[in-house]
Amino acid sequence: MQQVTYVLGAGSLGLLYAARLALTGKTVCLLVKPSQTSALNLGITLSEGEAALAKRVFVRVRSEPSSEIKIQQLILATKAGQAVQSLKNWQSSLADDAEILMLQNGMGSQAEVAKLLTAQQTLLAASVTEGAYLAKPGSVIHASKGKTQLGRWSGAGKDAAARWASRLTIAGLTAEVTEPIRPVLWHKLAVNSVINPLTAINNIDNGALASRDYKPQVDALCAEVLQVFKRLGIEEPEGGLKYRVEQVILSTAANRSSMLQDISSGKKTEIDYITGALLKAAKALKLDLKAHQSVYLAIKEAEQRE
Ligand code: PAF
Repeated sequence: MQQVTYVLGAGSLGLLYAARLALTGKTVCLLVKPSQTSALNLGITLSEGEAALAKRVFVRVRSEPSSEIKIQQLILATKAGQAVQSLKNWQSSLADDAEILMLQNGMGSQAEVAKLLTAQQTLLAASVTEGAYLAKPGSVIHASKGKTQLGRWSGAGKDAAARWASRLTIAGLTAEVTEPIRPVLWHKLAVNSVINPLTAINNIDNGALASRDYKPQVDALCAEVLQVFKRLGIEEPEGGLKYRVEQVILSTAANRSSMLQDISSGKKTEIDYITGALLKAAKALKLDLKAHQSVYLAIKEAEQRE
């Protein structure tokens, strides 16, 4: 019998992975809240350049754990702040040798989830640069192709990362095993810690950060990240952190960052798992990151206001 791939978190990334896997014949089941039941005819618009653009795929939907299911392959695609609570709801259905792939931004949620698992269950963490958004509920647009770098975070499955990378590759996503995964997650966190708060505080598209007006703030945030990296022994990304940040600003110029979207729609942001995680690491190293502290407070205030 074919293994079912379960997906927890029906945001843009969760639905993108679900639809891509289902398109290549995988049995996919979305784990949803009790209010959302029944099977789903999921719409996916593939990224530019791919043969047939709009497709519909069938995915199963389940809203409650049961003794009938054993979740062996799970993609955890909630927001970082919801990962632990969401997984707790399904923990009783996890197989003894479950392999869980986490797609969350930032750092912190991986360690929180790892605490829920046994040594036989494997946790993998990924850094994702796919561009996707929801056109409407149940319909995802794969706007720009990126990649999924993944590696083992904890647990027994030494080959689990390779198995997930090949599953995702077959599904038409670019996926590669990158181990150790922690420096990769820190690199993504670093980029997010510069772009996300600045765009959210100033209500601007990512591209606006390329203007001279924001250069001093971008430079100060990058310099503080590098102090932490140096003390943690994390190398800069290829070409240097400032170069990486500039590249992301330019290549996502028209995007409204996820943090800006969260603030605009009155949702809680991922600041605690991005800037908050950086400040926590800095505190343990007795480093004072003034620029990050200031954007952290500004986002917390904006969350309260909204
Ligand atoms: O969180 C986001 O919005 C994205 O990670 C990024 C890279 C900042 C692009 O918008």
